[in-house]
Amino acid sequence: MTHATYDLDAVRRRIPILRTHIPMNNCSQAPQSEATRAAADAYLASWDQAGMDWDSWIGETEAARAEFAAFVGAEADDVAVATSVSQATASVASGMDWTGSRRRVVASGGEFPAVGHVWLAQERFGAEVAWVPVRDGAILVEDYASLVDEQTAVVSACRGYYQSGFKQDIAAIAQIAHAKGALLYVDAYQTLGSEPFDAPSSGADFVASGNLKFLMGIPGIAFLWVRPGLAKRLRPAITGWFGREDPYAFDATRLDWGSGARRLDTGTPPIMEAYVARAGMAWLREVGLDAIGAWTSTLGQRCVEGAIERGMRVLGPTDPARRAPTCAILCDDSHAVEATLRRENIIASARGPVIRLAPHFYNTLDDVDQALDALAAAMRKTT
Ligand SMILES: Cc1ncc(COP(=O)(O)O)c(C=O)c1O
Repeated sequence: MTHATYDLDAVRRRIPILRTHIPMNNCSQAPQSEATRAAADAYLASWDQAGMDWDSWIGETEAARAEFAAFVGAEADDVAVATSVSQATASVASGMDWTGSRRRVVASGGEFPAVGHVWLAQERFGAEVAWVPVRDGAILVEDYASLVDEQTAVVSACRGYYQSGFKQDIAAIAQIAHAKGALLYVDAYQTLGSEPFDAPSSGADFVASGNLKFLMGIPGIAFLWVRPGLAKRLRPAITGWFGREDPYAFDATRLDWGSGARRLDTGTPPIMEAYVARAGMAWLREVGLDAIGAWTSTLGQRCVEGAIERGMRVLGPTDPARRAPTCAILCDDSHAVEATLRRENIIASARGPVIRLAPHFYNTLDDVDQALDALAAAMRKTT
């Protein structure tokens, strides 16, 4: 594939920073677009002109919930609005019972610390966390099979591993978890927006994501899809007035639960972030996730092959079907390399021993080639 199947030039015109920079850091933060800028401006104008317009603002939060739901092929009632993946995961974990016979959490070593730490924090309440090893940037399905047992309450498996871009086979892990009666928690933050993802048919019981990476948004908002019928089994200790059946009942003495996933909502929602989040996700859906998935896979593969051709070492499997667009290249001082690239207006993302190039639907093959040439030169300079 040499071209995106959508109008790439039109997409690029809507991202002002592309006039001067090559952003390849979607594994960390997406660039601003006209769509997200206009959405933030709409909130600021409403605040400025109306002073307070609570009903419209809450309406925007609901619209963002519905947009996320549509994004993952689900219903709005099955989506909770959170402020971060850490908080969404903590709300879920705090609603589980860690005192019965099922106390085990089987989590991949590829979980982002946000998620791993939340499971570890449950050990105080009786949970025991077992880790699925990361092997050369990959996580093997067989390793789940040897750890998941009848005592397992939940399996925690990210879709994309933040460090290498390795994509886990969620359906295969779901089979292992469900065969033993365990639930499957999926953090899809490193892939959502770069590929089509249908939560209800994925096998996952929970799908969480923040908004600022491939979803083209900003920090401060996250979403959590919960399999229909499952939320009512949770009694989250991390809660707030928006988790109630009627947040406006204003009865501090009575703890009831909102319907569906709304019981996992907490405090005043992230309103401005909801404006922005909806705009980013709506734009991606308008362009089309199948087409975006095909192009980001092409870009990711160009990164991997181009890095290898230039003598670099890529972390994780090279098969495009097993990778997010993120390509992780091993280097001695990743932060120094990131800073060197920055000076050339190329935005990459250092993480521990790797520098990550994470192209998205607006990038070109030429962007990838230029970034790799600059990276090769930067690596020579810093060794
Ligand atoms: C896979 C993944 N999950 C979670 C996070 C962070 O989640 P939050 O800051 O929303 O808690 C990140 C990165 O920031 C990530 O890459």
